[in-house]
Amino acid sequence: MFSLTNKTAVITGGGSGIGKAIALLFAKQGAAVHIIELNTDAAAEVIKEIKNAGGDGKAHATNVTDQQAILNVFNEIGKVDILINNAGIAHVGNLENTTEVDLDRIFNVNVKGAYNCLYAAVPLMKQAGKGVILNMASIAAHVGITDRFAYSMSKGAIFAMTLSVARDYLADNIRCNSISPARVHTPFVDGFIAKNYPDNQAEVFEKLSKSQPIGRMGKPDEIAFLALYLCSDEAGFVTGNDYPIDGGFITLNN
Ligand SMILES: NC(=O)c1ccc[n+]([C@@H]2O[C@H](COP(=O)([O-])OP(=O)(O)OC[C@H]3O[C@@H](n4cnc5c(N)ncnc54)[C@H](O)[C@@H]3O)[C@@H](O)[C@H]2O)c1
Repeated sequence: MFSLTNKTAVITGGGSGIGKAIALLFAKQGAAVHIIELNTDAAAEVIKEIKNAGGDGKAHATNVTDQQAILNVFNEIGKVDILINNAGIAHVGNLENTTEVDLDRIFNVNVKGAYNCLYAAVPLMKQAGKGVILNMASIAAHVGITDRFAYSMSKGAIFAMTLSVARDYLADNIRCNSISPARVHTPFVDGFIAKNYPDNQAEVFEKLSKSQPIGRMGKPDEIAFLALYLCSDEAGFVTGNDYPIDGGFITLNN
């Protein structure tokens, strides 16, 4: 069950956190893993770990915001069975303290980056007569979260993009879903706590852990297991949906 043998998976942002956990698990399940990353060293480390364990993969030092560079990478890879649009960046702020520059930066990576990879991957999937796409959304796409104006909008766009692509490519045998995690303990979380709450990091970490009714943050591996199911042949009936994985954040926070 859940074998990815003979499949090629492209994972953006696979050098860290959730993307790294997905890359390692997918390689373990037999996929050839291509990581598209800004952080070249981190991606190379993950590929090294995959190869040391007997797996196959390649790191591509590419910014998801650069459409031509992304088209070149996908054409070089040639065959794409699975695309995971995972690369994303955070921003803390409400409407009034979100500048035009902040908004453009978040949308460029979180929204246009996903669009660029879809734009490059879907024609290859159509040619092959099949494909699976998984987009990383967030609980921020579904509930109002304090001070996440631009980030929430970008993840709402990811959710809508998921539905649109799932609908348009039904006849091409391409499935498209998204995952909406609550807080997962990754460098992404540590980074924004350090940047935005330098004076009370431990307190904010505790508060963010408790905001999941289950009492803790998620682990990258826990997200990777859901990703594996959704991208596996066993999930052949699953398309056009979003899957919260949130320790009860959306439904039990009362
Ligand atoms: N960690 C959480 O609590 C959480 C919760 C919900 C959703 N998410 C989403 O999950 C995804 C992964 O988050 P994470 O916590 O693992 O983050 P992370 O910061 O640990 O990893 C993200 C990776 O993406 C790469 N990246 C960023 N911009 C890029 C670009 N322009 N081109 C190529 N690579 C780029 C970074 O170099 C980094 O290695 C993001 O989309 C994030 O919004 C995270």
